Amino acid sequence: MPLAHVAIYKVCVRRCSESDILAAVDVAIDDGVDVLSLSLDGPTSIFLDESVAVGVFSAIERGIFVSASAGNNGPSFGSIQNGAPWLLTVGASTTDRRIVAPVVLGNNDELNGESTYQPPDFDSSTPLLLVYPLLNSSNVNASFCTPDSLQNIDVRGRIVLCEEGIIGRIAKGIAVRNTGGAAMILINQQPQGYYTYSDSHVLPATHLSYADGLRIRAYINTTAQPVATVSFRGTVIGDDSAPTVAFFSARGPNSASPGILKPDIIGPGSNILAAWRMSVENNINTRSNFKIISGTSMSCPHLSGIAALLRSAHPNWSPTAIKSAIMTTADRVNFEGNLIEDQTFRPASILATGSGHVYNRTVTNVGDPNSVYTVGIIGLSSVEVRVEPSTLQFTEVKQILTYQVKFSRLASPSSGTIAEGFLMWNSTRHSVRSPIFALFA
Ligand SMILES: *[C@@H]1O[C@H](CO)[C@@H](O)[C@H](O)[C@H]1NC(C)=O
Ligand SMILES: *[C@@H]1O[C@H](CO)[C@@H](O)[C@H](O)[C@H]1NC(C)=O
Ligand SMILES: *[C@@H]1O[C@H](CO)[C@@H](O)[C@H](O)[C@H]1NC(C)=O
Ligand SMILES: *[C@@H]1O[C@H](CO)[C@@H](O)[C@H](O)[C@H]1NC(C)=O
Ligand SMILES: *[C@@H]1O[C@H](CO)[C@@H](O)[C@H](O)[C@H]1NC(C)=O
Repeated sequence: MPLAHVAIYKVCVRRCSESDILAAVDVAIDDGVDVLSLSLDGPTSIFLDESVAVGVFSAIERGIFVSASAGNNGPSFGSIQNGAPWLLTVGASTTDRRIVAPVVLGNNDELNGESTYQPPDFDSSTPLLLVYPLLNSSNVNASFCTPDSLQNIDVRGRIVLCEEGIIGRIAKGIAVRNTGGAAMILINQQPQGYYTYSDSHVLPATHLSYADGLRIRAYINTTAQPVATVSFRGTVIGDDSAPTVAFFSARGPNSASPGILKPDIIGPGSNILAAWRMSVENNINTRSNFKIISGTSMSCPHLSGIAALLRSAHPNWSPTAIKSAIMTTADRVNFEGNLIEDQTFRPASILATGSGHVYNRTVTNVGDPNSVYTVGIIGLSSVEVRVEPSTLQFTEVKQILTYQVKFSRLASPSSGTIAEGFLMWNSTRHSVRSPIFALFA
C-alpha cells in the first residue's frame, strides 16, 4: 500500500470565505499535491459564480485530482452542491457497521436503533415508563423535546420519546437529562426513512427509523401504561443491506446544468470514525480526539483516498482518466447482491447514486493491447438507444476510440416520466459502465 502524505490547509476558522479557500488551493498547487479533497459546502448557482469551482479548475489543469462533497441537503431532488463537471461530486452511503442499541417495548416488540454512547452500567432489565411529550403538553415543540417544552412534564426516571427536528439530536438528550429523564428514544421524520445516526449522546439513548417510530407511537396509542427498555450491544458488522444512500446525501439534477448528471458517485459517509477537534465529551484536556460523524464531508475523503491509490498505480493518468476509472467501475449492488437502495429501502435513483454524461464519447484503452469491447444497454424503457460503432476494437494500449450514442423516444410517456439505465462496454476481461438518465419533457 502506498503511504500518502496528508497536508491539511485550515480554511474555515470562524467562517468559510471563498478567498481563504482559494488561497489554500494556490498553496496546495505550489506544494505539488496530487489530490485535493474539498469537504466544503458550495453554492448551487451558475459555475461562473462558483469561485471555488473556477479556482480548482486551474488545479485540475495542472493534473491535480479534485473530489468535493455533494452536500447534505438531501433527499429532495435538485439539492446537489459542488456540481461543476470537472469535479468528482461525492454523495454519502451507509456502511455495513452499526453501533447497536435496541429498544424492547412492553409488548416485546424489539426495534433496532443506534448510539455511539454505550453506557456499560445501564439497567436494561427493568422496563421504564415511556413518555411521549406530545401527549402531555400544548407546546407545539413538545414532540421535539425542546428544553422549554419539557418544563411542565414529569419525565423523571422515564424513557422519553423525541422526534427529529427543530433542535439538534444531542441537544434533545441534554434537555431530557436536565429535566430528570432516564433515557431517550429518538425517532425519524418521514423523509429520513430508515437512516439512523449513531451519536455520542449525554444519556442512555437510541435512534430509530421512521417505520419503527410509527410502531412505537401505535404502541403508545393503544397502551394504558406504555413501558420500554434500551440495551447496548456494541459494534455489529455485517449489515447486508449496505450500502444504502443516506437520506441527507444531496441529489441531482444539478440545477446549474441539468444535462450533466450529478452526483458522480457515492462513498462511505455515515457514522464514520473521524478525527475531531475535541473529545466526544467536549473535554479539551484529552488526547482522544475522535468522533463518529456523518455527512458527505466524510464520503469525499474516501474517494480522495481511492484517487490517490490510482494516481500511485498509474502516475501518468490525468485527473479525468482517474475519475472515469472510478465512475465506470463503481458497484451498483449492495452486499446482498440487490440494487443499491436509498433511505426508503427502495432502489435508489441515478440522481442519488451517481452519473455520467452523453454527447460523442471517447474511450482510452488501459487494458490489454488487443481487446474487443461490445456495447450493451441495460434499462431505459421508453427510450431507443443506438450506439455506433457497437464494437470497439483496440490494437494497442492508450489507443483512443470514439463512439456516438443516439437516443429516440419509443412511446409517448407523460411529461415528467423518468428513464434510467446504463451503457456498458464488455470485453472478455473487463466491463465498464456509464449511467444514463432521461427526463421526458
Ligand atoms: C401523558 O399523557 C398521557 C395520555 O394523556 C397519560 O396517560 C400520561 O400519564 C401522561 N404522562 C405524564 C408524565 O404526564
Ligand atoms: C418552537 O421552536 C421554535 C424554534 O426553536 C421557536 O422559534 C418557537 O418559538 C417555539 N415555539 C414555542 C411555542 O415555544
Ligand atoms: C396516535 O394517536 C395520535 C393522536 O390521536 C394520532 O395523531 C396518531 O396518528 C396516532 N399514531 C399512530 C402511529 O397510530
Ligand atoms: C456485459 O453487458 C451486459 C449488458 O448487455 C450485462 O448484462 C453483462 O452483465 C455484462 N457482462 C459482464 C461480464 O459484466
Ligand atoms: C461523433 O462521432 C461520429 C462518428 O462516430 C462522427 O461522425 C461525428 O462527426 C462526431 N461528432 C462530433 C461532434 O464530434
